[in-house]
Amino acid sequence: MKLQPVRGTHDLVGESVAKHNFIVEEARSTVDNYGFEEISTPIFEFSEVFKRTLGEASDIVSKEMYTFEDRGGESITLRPEGTAPIARAFISGGMARQLPLKFFYQGPMFRYERPQKGRQRQFHQLGIEMLGISEPQADIECLSLADVFLKKIGLEGKYKLVINSLGDEESRARYVEALTSYLESHKSDLSEDSVKRLEKNPLRILDSKSEQDQAIVKDAPSLSEFLSESSKTHFEAVTAGLEQLKIPFEIDETLVRGLDYYCETVFEFRTELIGAQDAILSGGRYDKLIEQMGGASTAGIGFAAGIERLALLVEKTPVLDPIFSVVPLGKSAENACIAICHELRSQGFRVEMAYSGNMSKRMKKADKVGAIGALIVGEDEIDKGIASWKNLKTGEQQEISLNSLSSFLSKIETEA
Ligand code: HAM
Repeated sequence: MKLQPVRGTHDLVGESVAKHNFIVEEARSTVDNYGFEEISTPIFEFSEVFKRTLGEASDIVSKEMYTFEDRGGESITLRPEGTAPIARAFISGGMARQLPLKFFYQGPMFRYERPQKGRQRQFHQLGIEMLGISEPQADIECLSLADVFLKKIGLEGKYKLVINSLGDEESRARYVEALTSYLESHKSDLSEDSVKRLEKNPLRILDSKSEQDQAIVKDAPSLSEFLSESSKTHFEAVTAGLEQLKIPFEIDETLVRGLDYYCETVFEFRTELIGAQDAILSGGRYDKLIEQMGGASTAGIGFAAGIERLALLVEKTPVLDPIFSVVPLGKSAENACIAICHELRSQGFRVEMAYSGNMSKRMKKADKVGAIGALIVGEDEIDKGIASWKNLKTGEQQEISLNSLSSFLSKIETEA
């Protein structure tokens, strides 16, 4: 039996799970202030949900999906991202009358990519989707929420925001035509990958990492010249909003994003601190997605952040409350100690019981779990209604009444 995790997957345990939970909790508390509700869609969907929305020519659909036939003969795909499933849930759940809607989500995603630092095959995303708001205010709120969240987890100064406008459908179609004709005239100098993209997805050549392609892209027609008046006005309102909120940004006309459903504003928060996989949070508008899936025309904008990538940047591990140990003096005091643990835990204290062994073994166990102090309770103490408190750092000992345990421990917690 192979016992190592499958390539590109990992176990979350110890510090990695603590960081993961810290990131998700901070995201939850941020989105709460913006009036979001949480949604959790299934980990797998009918393959069509992704194939028809992300684009046949996108990297995800053409080579990265975990797709299989289930026992009923249905083609199923493990979700590579969360936006298409939420659009599907919106339509199948008949939520159109509840618009506008603001959803927060988090969970595992699956892409068969080449694993490297910051890139796994099972990774975790947290994200938001705002449905039914076509005004640029939604773009601004989405971007400012992302910025507030990244600062909240301690990443201030470690990232930059890059944005662009893809324009509406007509602007984009006109641009793709001009771009294709320009690139056709340089076909012989393009990289092999880009020659393939030229037919199916020419926009992706713009963000090609190959130097050969970049030399050609440098003089390509620029997207902004093809934007319709309404796309221009929308984008100007977004950038003005960012300026007003003092959120620095950079416009990069080669930012096109890899998925077909995007239109108008697209963006990435990037870092220079974790290597090649530098996008820590990215997203954009998708005003045609829901309609294209068979729902009523509904605007949408959102983002997703890779939790593993954020974890590479998060320095502080969450500060947890201190642990108290309860040490029974001999077998006869064990039941009373279980009751004391139960009571203290229900009051919100972190408590560990040193279950077995002689006194010295039990004290060693208290030390090992990292307790700051131990409540030592024997039969005599129970009769007198007291416990002895031992500070495990200083060794100081004192007696306290069982009735005032909770106020005593609260005081220790605040001093710790
Ligand atoms: P995406 O850019 O494909 O967009 O992924 C979003 C984020 O997920 C990336 O910026 C990155 O941090 C993380 N990520 C992607 N692939 C991997 C991987 N293999 N390993 C680790 N982290 C990864 C979307 O998924 C869109 N659904 C975002 C969105 C929401 N657009 C609108 N709403």
